[in-house]
Amino acid sequence: MSIIIKSEKDIQKMRIAGKLASDVLKIITPYIIPGVKTSKLDYICHKYIIDVQKAIPACFNYKGFPKSVCISVNDVICHGIPSDSKILRDGDIVNIDVTVIKDGFYGDTSKMFFVGNSTIQGKKLCQIAQNSLYLAILMVKPGIRLYTIGKAIQEFVEKYNLSIVREYCGHGIGRNFHEEPQVLHYESEDRNIILQEGMAFTIEPMVNFGDSNIRIMSDGWTVKTKDRSWSAQYEHTLVVTNKGCEILTLRDDEPFSSSVLINE
Ligand code: MF3
Ligand code: CO
Ligand code: CO
Repeated sequence: MSIIIKSEKDIQKMRIAGKLASDVLKIITPYIIPGVKTSKLDYICHKYIIDVQKAIPACFNYKGFPKSVCISVNDVICHGIPSDSKILRDGDIVNIDVTVIKDGFYGDTSKMFFVGNSTIQGKKLCQIAQNSLYLAILMVKPGIRLYTIGKAIQEFVEKYNLSIVREYCGHGIGRNFHEEPQVLHYESEDRNIILQEGMAFTIEPMVNFGDSNIRIMSDGWTVKTKDRSWSAQYEHTLVVTNKGCEILTLRDDEPFSSSVLINE
C-alpha cells in the first residue's frame, strides 16, 4: 500500500478525464431550476457522459450506488441518490458530484448550485466551503506535509463557526476511484505524508452550518447532518507539479486564469 506517482502520460489522461467531469457540471447548470426532479438531472448527466463524452459514469453501480451522479440537497451532506420524488425548490442549495472514467483514468469533481433565488445563509455556507477548497489548493506543492492542509481547512471553516465533517475525506485518484493517500479536511495525528510531484488526489471538504455530526439514511447511502442544518461541498481533482499543482477539473466560472498554479 503506497501512493502511486503518476507519469506525464498518466497525467495527460487524467487531464482529459478531469475536463470531462467538469464539463458535466457545466452542461447541467441550466437544468437546475425550481420544480425539476433530481432523477431528471441524473438522467441528463448519464446520457451526456455515455453518448457525448463516450466515457463511463463511475458512480453507477459503484458498491451498488444506483445512479450516475450524487445529488445532495440542503441538509444532505453527500451521496444523495437522485430520485423522482426529490423535487428542487426555490432557495435550495444542491451539490452535484460527478466522477467519470475515460481511457482507464478517473476525474472527480463537485460544486454547489443555487436553485432560483438563493438565501443569504445558503450563499454564505457555499462561499466558505468553496474558499476552504481554494485555500487548500493554494497550499499544494512538493515538500509540504499533507496534514497542514487539513489543519488549514479546519481552522478556516471554524473561524466562521461552521464545522467540518470528519467521516469523509479526499483521496488519491488515478486508475482507481479511491487510492492512497486519504486527504483529511481537519487536523490529524498522521503527519508523515509529504507531497511529491506526480501525486494526484482530490480535496473535497464538507462544511456544515451546524455541528459536524452525521447520520446515514436507511437507503444505506444518503448522508445527512444530524442537526438538520445545511451542508455544502466542493471538490477538485489535482496533481502535484514541481512548483505547485494543476487543477485537473477546473471550470471557466472559477477565479483562476490557469489550471497550473505556482504555489511558492
Ligand atoms: N464522488 C464521490 C467522491 O468524491 C464518491 C461517490 S461514491 C457513490 O469520492 F457511490 F456515492 F457514488
Ligand atoms: Co472524491
Ligand atoms: Co466526488
